[in-house]
Amino acid sequence: MIKKKKEIKNIRLAGKIAAKTLEMIENYIKPNINTETINNICHNYIIKKKAIPACLGYKGFPKSICTSINEVVCHGIPNKKDILKKGDIINIDITVIKNGYHGDVSKMFILGEKNHLGKKLCKAAQKSLYLSLKKIKPGVKINIIGETIQNYINKKNFSIVKNYCGHGIGKNFHEEPQILHYKNKKKMILKKGMVFTIEPMINIGSCEVETMEDNWTVKTKDRKLSAQYEHTILVTKTGCEILTYQSNEKIKPILIN
Ligand code: MF3
Ligand code: CO
Ligand code: CO
Repeated sequence: MIKKKKEIKNIRLAGKIAAKTLEMIENYIKPNINTETINNICHNYIIKKKAIPACLGYKGFPKSICTSINEVVCHGIPNKKDILKKGDIINIDITVIKNGYHGDVSKMFILGEKNHLGKKLCKAAQKSLYLSLKKIKPGVKINIIGETIQNYINKKNFSIVKNYCGHGIGKNFHEEPQILHYKNKKKMILKKGMVFTIEPMINIGSCEVETMEDNWTVKTKDRKLSAQYEHTILVTKTGCEILTYQSNEKIKPILIN
């Protein structure tokens, strides 16, 4: 699970391209655009950077990115018929491969100020991720992540999806270790050179989810809103480095914890 210098360099490169793709697409996220168009713009951008969209063909996934609107928790498939409207919240999840290594990132976009509860949910999901990042350093137990996220989300009276977790990442899209976003008893100790994602999915209502007939789209059972933020991070000597850092974030890219 400890990555070599050269591996880290390539994951950092992949992470940078994935993050830049999210920054680039922001201007297009407006009412009336459909998610297939969003997919195509991202796909072309990734190809132009001489990288590969990792989702395309992954276990048969048909598109290059995931677009998850409102009650869709994750793995939404870009589609001409999914047209954004005022008040929507949408997660865009982008994973790219560069020189054989993966970088994985996602964030929420909020259309219009009207959707107050949706905006609060997105803020809480992002803050839960940020709070967990501030705990990471060598020597601490891996379950500090889930504990930190759950303590905060409980306070906000939202719920945490338990069916999906963060993951080690590198040559493979998903590898060890598993990162749970809720309180757990995993005792693994974090070490310098580990690279993994943290990607909490937070619901307004119940934490229960179900997969649709397309075998990909995951929705909340109660059809209430869900929000997710994801970063790929490297455990450093003194804390962690956010390998998928975007320039508009209200946290530092290198955390001394
Ligand atoms: N990017 C997702 C993750 O964070 C995985 C998407 S898999 C796909 O792990 F096949 F749906 F693209
Ligand atoms: Co991921
Ligand atoms: Co992802």
